[in-house]
Amino acid sequence: MIRFSRSVNAMQSSAVRELMKVASDPDVISFAGGMPNPDLFPVGELDEIYASLSLKDKQNGFQYGPTPGYPPLLESLREYLRAKGLPVDRNDLIVTAGSLQAINLTAKVFVDAGDSIVTETPCFVGAISVFKFYQAELRGVPINEGGVLIPELDKALNGVHPTPKILYLTPYFHNPAGIVYGPERQRQVLNLLHHRGDVVLIEDDAYGELYFEERDRPVPMKAMADDSVPVCYTGSFSKIFGPGMRLGWLLAPRDVVRKCELAKQGVDACSSTFTQVLADAFLRRGMLSGYLKRLREAYARRAKRMLDSLEAHMPKSVKWTVPRGGFYIWVQLPSVMDASELLEKSVRRGTVFVVGKAFDPQGKKNDCLRLSFSHTPEDKIDEGIRKIAEAVREKRQ
Ligand SMILES: Cc1ncc(COP(=O)(O)O)c(C=O)c1O
Repeated sequence: MIRFSRSVNAMQSSAVRELMKVASDPDVISFAGGMPNPDLFPVGELDEIYASLSLKDKQNGFQYGPTPGYPPLLESLREYLRAKGLPVDRNDLIVTAGSLQAINLTAKVFVDAGDSIVTETPCFVGAISVFKFYQAELRGVPINEGGVLIPELDKALNGVHPTPKILYLTPYFHNPAGIVYGPERQRQVLNLLHHRGDVVLIEDDAYGELYFEERDRPVPMKAMADDSVPVCYTGSFSKIFGPGMRLGWLLAPRDVVRKCELAKQGVDACSSTFTQVLADAFLRRGMLSGYLKRLREAYARRAKRMLDSLEAHMPKSVKWTVPRGGFYIWVQLPSVMDASELLEKSVRRGTVFVVGKAFDPQGKKNDCLRLSFSHTPEDKIDEGIRKIAEAVREKRQ
């Protein structure tokens, strides 16, 4: 009999991945995947960039590159991160295959089986599966619309043995909750970590560029913290250029990045040089800021459309967050209602979403669900929400 490892035997396919199969049916209105809108990808710009590259740059793109990243991209990425106020000169940078790989490498270099990790509840499902793969014990801390609850976080970090090794947060346009941390909450989190050094903060900033209003542009905690707090800041081109580029990064203390580089050597040797060459040219030619403006307007419009539909169709007992950026709205059902049963009824009506328990580190809390407004054809949003509202009403009778 073949014998799988303990880590893989502990894994289950994520509810989100499973749902993608139903969601790809063209007749189904899907609010399930956290996918960017394909009509917004910078296809024309990248066509132009590729056509204008020198033969040497094109050849570089097909070649293996250094493990930390294609040097010109590392340079332009440092500029980009410096402009956000991030301490690029006191830290190291590594380009990864999406930011999920940055989270994975960080977990790989810190976590032994049985170590404990504190996350938000709800939490990005990809990070949950990474942490479970390394057999970490997860402690979820609830959040409200301003971020993680500080007294509960204090208890999770200080009141329990063993002391957690990692605190993982998604403070900006949270997946799935759609919320954003304000500066006061950011400072309170940093105060809890200040001068202790034994807890690494993974600050996941996959959506930070997608704020709808300038006043909500996030300043990362990595930019606010002093060096007594080891912050591993992860970012990504996935939600802007497209996940097919598979480009993310980790900005972290030098010794952490060195270990991640060692780990990455045995995973994929280097991230795609081809897409790194394209991303580098995009940044160097100053194409990012105009493009981001287009994205922000498009996603803000879609969010409004979904919020208007929720307002028009949902019963008063159903509540939801009002996002100020990103892709998601988090819906709170009446506590007696189970999102999986609601999903079954919604699927019968031809619409899908992701049930709340997929994002619960304990896999239980299921009186909530995630709606993604990023990908659904805009003229289908209202119809899809109306169908879910009908399913809610049917349930309540
Ligand atoms: C919060 C969050 N972090 C990280 C990722 C990983 O994205 P990627 O690996 O494509 O950069 C995602 C993707 O959905 C996400 O929602």
